[in-house]
Amino acid sequence: MLCLGIESTAHTFGVGIVSDTGEVLANVKKMYQPKVGGIHPKEAAQHHIDNSPYIIRDALDVAKVKISDIDLFCFSQGPGIPNCLRIGAVVARTLALKHEKPLLGINHCISHIEIGKEKTGAEDPVTLYVSGGNTQVIAFTGGKYRCFGETMDTAIGNAIDQFGREIGLVHPGGPKVEKLAKDGKWVNMPYTVKGMDLSFSGILSEAKRKFKDGVSKEDLCFSFQEVAFAMLVEVTERAVAHTGKEEVLLTGGVAANKRLQEMLEIMCKERGAKFYTVPFDLAGDNGAMIAWNGVLAHKAGEKHEIAETKINQKWRTDQVDVSWL
Ligand code: ATP
Ligand code: FE2
Repeated sequence: MLCLGIESTAHTFGVGIVSDTGEVLANVKKMYQPKVGGIHPKEAAQHHIDNSPYIIRDALDVAKVKISDIDLFCFSQGPGIPNCLRIGAVVARTLALKHEKPLLGINHCISHIEIGKEKTGAEDPVTLYVSGGNTQVIAFTGGKYRCFGETMDTAIGNAIDQFGREIGLVHPGGPKVEKLAKDGKWVNMPYTVKGMDLSFSGILSEAKRKFKDGVSKEDLCFSFQEVAFAMLVEVTERAVAHTGKEEVLLTGGVAANKRLQEMLEIMCKERGAKFYTVPFDLAGDNGAMIAWNGVLAHKAGEKHEIAETKINQKWRTDQVDVSWL
């Protein structure tokens, strides 16, 4: 059985083709790059409209299959930017109807976890999902993926990108901030964890203020990372302690950061937990994760009528019925 998954929640239009045993036959994606500032929903949607036919064609070519070989179509139903979500939904519905195959709407955040488990071997982890649009600490308890902690304002990736723009880095700032941080030393930054939730707006304002005061980019990058990542590690560690889970899974675009990986690894070692990072290609937004979660839901007997496939821009992780676990 082959499943084609479409991801279009934000910057990325991605198409993945996955077999029912989890083999990723293709994972093609293209990212919208804003000319100035952050993401512009209409421009991003136009990017997805313009690129979707070619990305689908490329994915089929890479997988060496025909569209008629696909048995199931899936798409990211939410959460995300409505303009962007709609493009993936329309493309997926069109393909499913034309080829008379089943269609499933998939929760974006949970698909990050499921592909992560499949590709790392983690079985029942506490997941730290960190990206441009999301910052969540999630674990499966009582039949649902529960969100144990999350950001109260902006996501960590967005905070880093905004800070990067402020100091003149081209979007996305994450990788450039990581590089500059290697030559930095410590300056004070506000540390904001409330209960299990996090806030990055204070650190962002303070970094901008210090930059205007002449503090070096390197020192700011170093200190921004150290403080923000320490906050993430603290909440993740507490979730591990509360749930008694023995694995930690790091995913999302920010999972590429080696310093964050290192800090989590140290925490896990101290607690005797196993630490896993999702491989780069499958950690950022991609179509393969949607396809794989689709396979799991399909095998569990899920069926969605077309009328049930409206986008759900605020679809929360703990609202999803996890039929496959
Ligand atoms: P989502 O829709 O899940 O919120 P997204 O649209 O933000 O995802 P991703 O590819 O998951 O897309 O993540 C992109 C983010 O990852 C950007 O904010 C980028 O700066 C950040 N990032 C990428 N590499 C690094 C790195 N090495 N260090 C820190 N952040 C990074
Ligand atoms: Fe994502």
